[in-house]
Amino acid sequence: MNKNLMKTNLKPLSHYSKNPNDDGIDLSLGEGHFNSSFNAKLKAYEALLDNNTKYSKVEGDETLRKLIIENYYPNFNYQDEIVVTNGSTQGFFSVMLTLINKGDEVIILSPHYPIYENVVRLLGGTPVIIDTRETNFKINSVILEKNITKKTKALIINEPNNPTGVTYTTQEKIELLKLFKNNKFYVIIDELYRLYTKSDYVSLSELIYDYNNKEQFIFINGLSKSHLMTGYRIGYVISNKIINEELKKINFLSVGCISSVMQQGAIGAILDEEHTKFVNNYYLNNLELLKEELMDIKVDYVNATGAYYLFINVSKFNLTGKEFCYKFKEKYHISLVPGEVFGIKYQDYVRISCCKDVKDIVKFINYLKNFYDEIISSK
Ligand SMILES: Cc1ncc(COP(=O)(O)O)c(C=O)c1O
Repeated sequence: MNKNLMKTNLKPLSHYSKNPNDDGIDLSLGEGHFNSSFNAKLKAYEALLDNNTKYSKVEGDETLRKLIIENYYPNFNYQDEIVVTNGSTQGFFSVMLTLINKGDEVIILSPHYPIYENVVRLLGGTPVIIDTRETNFKINSVILEKNITKKTKALIINEPNNPTGVTYTTQEKIELLKLFKNNKFYVIIDELYRLYTKSDYVSLSELIYDYNNKEQFIFINGLSKSHLMTGYRIGYVISNKIINEELKKINFLSVGCISSVMQQGAIGAILDEEHTKFVNNYYLNNLELLKEELMDIKVDYVNATGAYYLFINVSKFNLTGKEFCYKFKEKYHISLVPGEVFGIKYQDYVRISCCKDVKDIVKFINYLKNFYDEIISSK
């Protein structure tokens, strides 16, 4: 057995979701309640009927790569700067497999998506966890600089962040870019929730255009969240020629290629912009609604400016995040995720997933108010 694998202590987030046979509301999983667009299904179905069912290129279907580059990463090229992967999970894993040698340090900003830390450990690297709670759930150059050593191989940024929904302003990104310029480590940016942002949002990929070391940046992305395609397993990595070659090798060695049928579905999904925009706005509206209501009853939360999660502090209820989740499951049949899943320092937090029917968000708000009144009146 691989000792590093045995050391990783990871429960899939579905561990917290409701049993499919139970009634109740699931605000735990980050999986949208809408389905993929009709056009995505149609293109996948047509691919089957047309016998487009053979191996695809190891780097992914050319039309799909072109579409992704044109729509989301126009400063890169589709020939040798993008590889399609089996979800962004495989994309991230392949990037780390390419970069990490035993003893390399990887800076992870906490609270964080739990896979990052586990993959670094699995590959024999050392996760360097920086807690962002005291700095508004963001990193700045001063703190980052203190954590950089000769062994620093990479920094992982997840923007918009899961579980906090935090994004950086353009000015904050420009400041960070100055620091990156003076260092050699890779900056890996997981942008899986990028389409869940407001219109003034600027991705780092748009700012490194004039930057003299574009090779330093690697973008991880996919269609799971933005296009409601979790089960299609379409992700991709945008990087440079050298890393791209390594990623192709890993695809070849680990999965051969990505499903031809699902890649056609992905083309259909990207072409159906209306569906994507509708869903993205719907979940962002849910987030805003929840923020407003929580402000009303003065429940503290991290100010999410993207993605579809709200990370709320439940210490006001005299409960830990875990106890709060337990109560909500028992009393109201609502599943939530305790904050400690995203870092040991977040035991007083709970993550609420807003990628659900607005009626369920409203029900949660009503139950929360009810719960709040009970606690206040019992004091
Ligand atoms: C931040 C982040 N990155 C990556 C993933 C993996 O998604 P997928 O493999 O479906 O693309 C998730 C899933 O929840 C996530 O929240």
